[in-house]
Amino acid sequence: MLVAVCAVAATVVPTAGRPPGSDADTESSPEPPSPSPSAESELSQPQPPSAESEPSPSPELPDEQRHRATLRRSVALFRGFLHEQSDPDRFYSLLADDSVRQLRSYVDLVGARVLDVGGGPGYFATEFRRAGAAYIGLDPAVGDFAAAGAAVSGMVRGSGTALPVRSGGVEVCYSSNVLEHVAEPEAMLDELVRVTRAGGTVFVSFTPWLSPWGGHETSPWHFLGGERARRRYLRRNGREPKNRVGHTLFPVSAARAMRWARAARRAGAIDIVDVLPRYHPGWARWVARVPVLREALTWNFTMVLRKAAEPDDRE
Ligand SMILES: C[S@@+](CC[C@H](N)C(=O)[O-])C[C@H]1O[C@@H](n2cnc3c(N)ncnc32)[C@H](O)[C@@H]1O
Repeated sequence: MLVAVCAVAATVVPTAGRPPGSDADTESSPEPPSPSPSAESELSQPQPPSAESEPSPSPELPDEQRHRATLRRSVALFRGFLHEQSDPDRFYSLLADDSVRQLRSYVDLVGARVLDVGGGPGYFATEFRRAGAAYIGLDPAVGDFAAAGAAVSGMVRGSGTALPVRSGGVEVCYSSNVLEHVAEPEAMLDELVRVTRAGGTVFVSFTPWLSPWGGHETSPWHFLGGERARRRYLRRNGREPKNRVGHTLFPVSAARAMRWARAARRAGAIDIVDVLPRYHPGWARWVARVPVLREALTWNFTMVLRKAAEPDDRE
């Protein structure tokens, strides 16, 4: 593991030269609120037909290790989430196990260098390593590394907007529930792509502001405005919420993430492999492809991207 840490993280390089695609903010055309045709074109390759289970590049995976996007699994995740405060072990272990299975539907993790940006507690480290990945967690809050119990090895302190990792240094760049905590989400998305090697996978998942959990612990009052929700929380609890809008929580939308993704695809930096509502059953995957609706209904909006080959490597 030490070798992996050295190979990936110790190669500290300045984060010069973002990949193309950082012009998202300049693209002002709103997304049409119509479903299918425009939504279909968001993906670079055809979607599996109303997938009950997800695409799997590893058909050799034993049945018990496969990801099954069933209703039962969504209910289990939601139940775990309800106990997040009282029993974080239960929730985060469940989430980490599910996340690794889900990612394996897209990429073989055995031997892959995985950078988990905003890895937080060590639960993900355990599951990724169990799956055979060379896992590196990165987080600016060093206290979060040990939240799962004993201190976890292979963790690096840093920010997703300026990753201390060389370009093309990892096969998989993973980020779960972090983008909404970053003031410049496009800068972080650019960074995730930069550190991924050509042909590698970027999996990024976040809670859109208009989702029922968009305001985090101040939800659902964030629908009346972030500041108002904060004041209400303070009044009720006698303390500031951990996630403060404009400070540690930012209103990021699926539309904004997709604008970035389409611009990056146009620039030849990535392919968009999939967009999905991370926790939903397979039959509800379509909601992630419907502009406007997806802001409120996906709960957690996920993009799976493949970094394009360098111009010299293309045929
Ligand atoms: C809600 S937790 C998510 C933890 C874990 N990835 C998960 O899905 O359970 C958000 C994490 O993002 C981290 N974070 C906040 N700002 C960040 C930044 N600029 N770069 C990377 N991580 C950041 C926080 O420290 C925290 O650990």
